[in-house]
Formats: sequence, structure tokens, C-alpha cells
Amino acid sequence: MHISGKVAVVTGAASGMGLAMAQTFADSGMKVVLADIEEEALASAVSQLSAQGHSVLGVRTDVSKLSDVEALAAATIKEFNAVHVLCNNAGVGVGAPVGSTSLADWKWTLDIDLWGPIYGVEIFLPLIEEQGEGHINSTASMAGLYAGASLGAYNVAKHGVVALMASLERDLRWRDSKVRASVLCPGPINTRITESERNRDPDDAAKHMDSEQGQKFWDFLTRTLANGMDPAEVGPMVLDAVVNEKFWVLTHPEMGEIALSQAQAMLTDQRLTR
Ligand SMILES: NC(=O)c1ccc[n+]([C@@H]2O[C@H](COP(=O)([O-])OP(=O)(O)OC[C@H]3O[C@@H](n4cnc5c(N)ncnc54)[C@H](O)[C@@H]3O)[C@@H](O)[C@H]2O)c1
Repeated sequence: MHISGKVAVVTGAASGMGLAMAQTFADSGMKVVLADIEEEALASAVSQLSAQGHSVLGVRTDVSKLSDVEALAAATIKEFNAVHVLCNNAGVGVGAPVGSTSLADWKWTLDIDLWGPIYGVEIFLPLIEEQGEGHINSTASMAGLYAGASLGAYNVAKHGVVALMASLERDLRWRDSKVRASVLCPGPINTRITESERNRDPDDAAKHMDSEQGQKFWDFLTRTLANGMDPAEVGPMVLDAVVNEKFWVLTHPEMGEIALSQAQAMLTDQRLTR
């Protein structure tokens, strides 16, 4: 797909990988709609890109609300009269083992990380197909390929996102659609994801369950991500998938081994790998 002059919508675009995607798309000549729940960060991302002369629009959006996603699509069409690319990237996480994850944490995670992309696909796919070409990418995680300890709700959501995008890509091919789908499975990236409760209603956040295992894991994850890849490196990877119709986008392909060895064990000794 030729992208110059086309319109991209990126959710979770005020920070981290979403902001990097917005920057990369804008630098490549696309018009970009930045959607995020965090109003101040969104305004500053929009003014950063506008100051560089890019054609951008910011729309405050909570991706867990269908009406917000519908309003995002309407604002995009009103401003740019078209939409060709959607990146369902907004996401949050909670560190807690299954059995010590409150129902509020399950719901918060799944509403944003899985229902967000489902709403995105449902609302934007018909609009993108009207253009006769386009692409939908969703941000899953390595946690969408391998369900490690202490991250149950996030693993479930991200496995769902991988399944959503693989199903979508096969459905699109089935009906010879010119629209393509892809999934981004990042390894550790230096973003603000471990501070994702910054956007949460405090009453809802108070419903956490105390878990020593979850807290230890979250502290470990925070240290690991601080040494992770610069999110700016991820924008061009997603652009490459859009331009060259790739499905899998792995920022750390070597980490794919963990999923391979699990699949191997499934066929050999039938035990779950560590
Ligand atoms: N950082 C990593 O190592 C890593 C690894 C794998 C996957 N991911 C995924 O990458 C995606 C981007 O996260 P990031 O790492 O850049 O973190 P980040 O916190 O820097 O950015 C996430 C953005 O999503 C926004 N957001 C949160 N809830 C929202 C909602 N309900 N509606 C709209 N926007 C919302 C936040 O305000 C923020 O701007 C997420 O889906 C995350 O799960 C991150």
C-alpha cells in the first residue's frame, strides 16, 4: 500500500509505542489521528506533531467505550474524509497471579486490552474497506504468544488480540479483501506501561488484591522495561508491516523461541514448559 496522503488512526498515541507510530506515519506523509484517554499528554503529542508541520487531529478516546470509538471514527471522517490505517495500540496491565486477581482488575484489563481492539475492528473495518485498501494493526505482546506467571489477565487479553488479528487476516483473505491485518508482539520496550494505573478511576483501582508474587513481578518488569528498546524503533516496524503486508511484527524475534519450545513440548512430552 502507498501511504503518502493516506489517513491513519492510532490509539494510545499520547505515549510510548503509539506516539512513535504516530510520529513515523506523519513523517511518511500520512495524516494522523491521535486517540488517547490521557487528555494533557494527548494535547502535547498533538502540538509536538503539528509544530513539525504535520496534519494531525487529537481525539480524547476511552477505547473501552464503544460510543467513544464510534465518535473517534466520526471525528476522523469529518476531519479527513477517509481512514486507511488503524492501530489498536492503547493498553494497560496489572501484575497479579490467577486466583489473586480481583474481578475489577480482570474487567479493567480485558475492557481496554481486548474489547478496545474488538470495538476498533468492528467500527473501522467497514470504513477502511470503503477505501478499497488499508490495514489494521493491533498491539498484542509476547504475552499473547506465551502465558507467563503473574500476568494472567494481561495474558488472556493479549492472546485474545493475537487470535482476533489472525482470524481477521484469514477472514479478509477468504473474501479477497484488499485490506490487511497484522499484530505487533513487542518484547520489553521502555514506555510508561507499568504506570498504566495513572489513567484509572481511583475507586476502581482500590479493588486490587494484595499479592506479593504480583508486586515482585511488577517491580522486576518495571526494571526490565527501563532497560528495554526505545519505542521510537517500533514505529518503523509497524509501518513496514503496513507497506509490505506482513502479519507478525516481533520487536525481539529471539524471544519467539519461548513460544516455539512450548509448541514443541505440546507435541513431544505434553508438559507445559516453564
Ligand atoms: N512496553 C512494553 O514493554 C510492552 C510490551 C508488550 C506490549 N505492550 C503493549 O503496547 C501497547 C502500548 O503501550 P506502551 O508500552 O507504549 O505504554 P504507555 O503507557 O507508554 O502507552 C499506552 C497509552 O495508552 C493510553 N491508554 C490507556 N488506557 C486507555 C484507554 N482506555 N483508552 C485510550 N487510551 C488509553 C495511555 O494513556 C498511554 O498513552 C499496549 O497495548 C501495551 O500492552 C507494551
